[in-house]
Amino acid sequence: MDIINQIQEELIKRCNSYEAKTGYNYWEDHIKHVVRNAIELAKQYGADVEIVTLGALLHDIATPSEYGPMEEHHIYGAKIADELLHKLNYPENKIEHVKNV
Ligand SMILES: [Fe+2]
Repeated sequence: MDIINQIQEELIKRCNSYEAKTGYNYWEDHIKHVVRNAIELAKQYGADVEIVTLGALLHDIATPSEYGPMEEHHIYGAKIADELLHKLNYPENKIEHVKNV
């Protein structure tokens, strides 16, 4: 399974447990639409589609992970992205790009 599918699977797992508690499905109602638009824009602007896709998948990961306060979800999201991508042995330089996205 490639890195995008691995991250997507982990994200959907977290979104499902968040939905069980809140009734809001972050994946269905928000993130998958952001990912679709991000891929479209990445192609349009000649950006790295893999990096942008991972950034879009992970941009709100802190909220369905119930990690940290909502106002700081971008900071904690980057921290969680860092941990997940390291665990999957994603290259260090690419991890920094994803965190900036
Ligand atoms: Fe978002």
